[in-house]
Order: sequence, then C-alpha cells, then structure tokens
Amino acid sequence: MVHVTWAMLANAKTLSAGLITGVLLAVFLQHITHLHLPSDDFSRNGGLGSTTHAFLDNMALSLSKPLQMAQQTWRHAAYKSCRVAQSLPFCQQPTISRLPTPIFSSTSRTSFSTTSATMAAQKSFLEALKDRRSIYQLNKEAPKSDKEIVDIVNQVVLHVPSSFNSQSTRVVVLLNQEHEKFWTLTAEVLKPQVPEDQYKSGTEPKLNAFKGAYGTILFFEDPQPVEDLRKAFPIYAHNFGDWSEHTSAMHQFAAWTALEAEGFGANLQHYNPIVDQKIQNEWKVPQEWKLRAQLVFGGKAGEAGEKQFKPLEDRVFVHGAKN
Ligand SMILES: Cc1cc2nc3c(=O)[nH]c(=O)nc-3n(C[C@H](O)[C@H](O)[C@H](O)COP(=O)(O)O)c2cc1C
Repeated sequence: MVHVTWAMLANAKTLSAGLITGVLLAVFLQHITHLHLPSDDFSRNGGLGSTTHAFLDNMALSLSKPLQMAQQTWRHAAYKSCRVAQSLPFCQQPTISRLPTPIFSSTSRTSFSTTSATMAAQKSFLEALKDRRSIYQLNKEAPKSDKEIVDIVNQVVLHVPSSFNSQSTRVVVLLNQEHEKFWTLTAEVLKPQVPEDQYKSGTEPKLNAFKGAYGTILFFEDPQPVEDLRKAFPIYAHNFGDWSEHTSAMHQFAAWTALEAEGFGANLQHYNPIVDQKIQNEWKVPQEWKLRAQLVFGGKAGEAGEKQFKPLEDRVFVHGAKN
C-alpha cells in the first residue's frame, strides 16, 4: 500500500502541472477522502496512513476550488452555447429520466437579490397576490436597479413549476433603450395594418404609453421540451401543448406579482403573433420559440381601475371541510 501511496504522491506532483489533470485528481481525491470508513479503521486495515490521509485531504481541498471554477465555467459556456445552438446534446431534454442537471441550480448561485426577503418582510404572499393589478400608467422611475430586476426574473424562472419539469419557458428581458425599441418595432408593424384614424386615436397613444414604461419581459415557449415530452409520454401527447401554455402563464403571473411586490406597476399585453418575426430577428431569438405574452412594467404613475368581482359562491365549491 505504501508503494501505491508514493506512486500517488508522485502522480500528484506531475498532475498538478495541468489544470484538467488536476481537476481529475481532485475528483479522485475527493472520492477517497469521503469514503465512509473512519481514517483509523482504514489505516489499521493497511490503508493510507493518517499523514498521507491528511495530505490527500488537503490536496483535495486545494484542488476542489479549481474544480468548482471549471464546473462553473462549463455551465456558463453550456448556457451560452445553448442560446446559439439548441441542437447541442446538453441543450436538449429528451426524456424525463434523462433531464440534465439544471444549468443554474438553486445552490450554484448565491448572488440572488435579497429583495425577496425584503418583500417577505413587508407582504405576505396573499397580500402580494391581491396587490397585483393591471397598471397602465407607467413611467421610467424604476424602484429597483436593472440587476435587481434581472434577479427577480431569474428567481421566477428558476422556481416557477413547469409541466413534468420541462422548463420550457424562455424569457427575454428588455430594459431602457431595448424596451423602447420593442415598442417602436411594434408600432412599425401595426401602423400599416390599422386604419389611420384608429391608429392615431387609439393604437398610437397606447403604444406610446407602453414605451413610456421602464421595461418589457417577453415570454416565449420553447417547443423542443414539449415535443420531447410528447415522444416520451405518448399517452399524454395531446395534453402537453396545453400544459406548456399553463407553464407560460404561471411564469407570467409570478413575474407580474413579484414585480408588483417590489414596487413596480405592470400590465400584460399580447402583440404576438403579429410582431414575432421582427422581434425574433432583432434579438436573435430562435425562430421556433413561440412568443406568448409581453409584460410591461415601470414606476407607477397611476392607479388600477375599479375591479368587479363575481361572487365566490359561484366560483369556489368546498367539500369535506372540518373546521
Ligand atoms: C391571460 C390573460 C391575458 C390578458 N391579456 C391582456 C391584454 O392582452 N391586454 C391587456 O391590456 N390586459 C390583458 N390582461 C389583463 C386583464 O384584462 C386583467 O388582468 C383583468 O381585467 C383583471 O384586472 P387586474 O389585472 O387589474 O386584476 C390579461 C390577463 C390575463 C390573465
């Protein structure tokens, strides 16, 4: 066993010259130092001596950092590659049993905004739910930074459920000039199609109001995971289209409510499919993704309109309640 140990030490020296090899060694070292055998038992049974064991432990520790960095770099590279080439194997989610590890796991990024904690301190979920309204008078006074907005969207996309965990929703967040560009392009598409007087009196002021907001979130559905589910579960094939729409709606609702809870006003629009082509060309969105909705948000410059509620008795039916 001593022979083996020295061989390993010699190897460690040589291997540390190259990052890739070092990473492989770290995996190996981590593996053996995390065996559930207590080190004493291991030594008594002719295993590695405790000094060697400590050395290997240290090696594993010191090499685990580059390992994590390499993993992170790979994840980011994978994410970027997926944006340009959806056909790459690690971009696909062929069957549920082969769903890849999410590119960002909830534990892999610790830099999320603390705004959700702030929200929790101020509002309950039901309060946030009640406060979410359609606000059409919006301005450019954003109560949160762009980074915080992106963090909110990231949290929504990570944690909102999807049918069979398909994670089929894609979002494009347009802020500042890019947001304005969206509404300029929408106006360019609509103007030739709407009668002139109608455009002047209705469409144009409406589009200008959206343009006067701070940002727009575009919600797409990627048909690939949906198609994969159809193949994997033919018995439910006819349902997956509906469930993809439900998945999108859940994301829209969560983003809308989260933004409201963080002090924004927002409203939901549907200029798809009329703007799809132009938008997809402009922001290099894969042509096969389907635009489902646009969430316009910004500072609140007005109140929501009055809302009528149909009686709950006509809408909620309870059986079996005990207290
Ligand atoms: C699925 C869905 C689609 C909607 N589409 C639009 C839309 O295209 N344009 C719009 O101005 N509002 C749209 N809305 C907003 C609704 O009109 C609004 O939520 C509803 O009247 C209730 O008002 P509230 O949002 O203030 O609670 C949509 C809402 C939902 C849930």
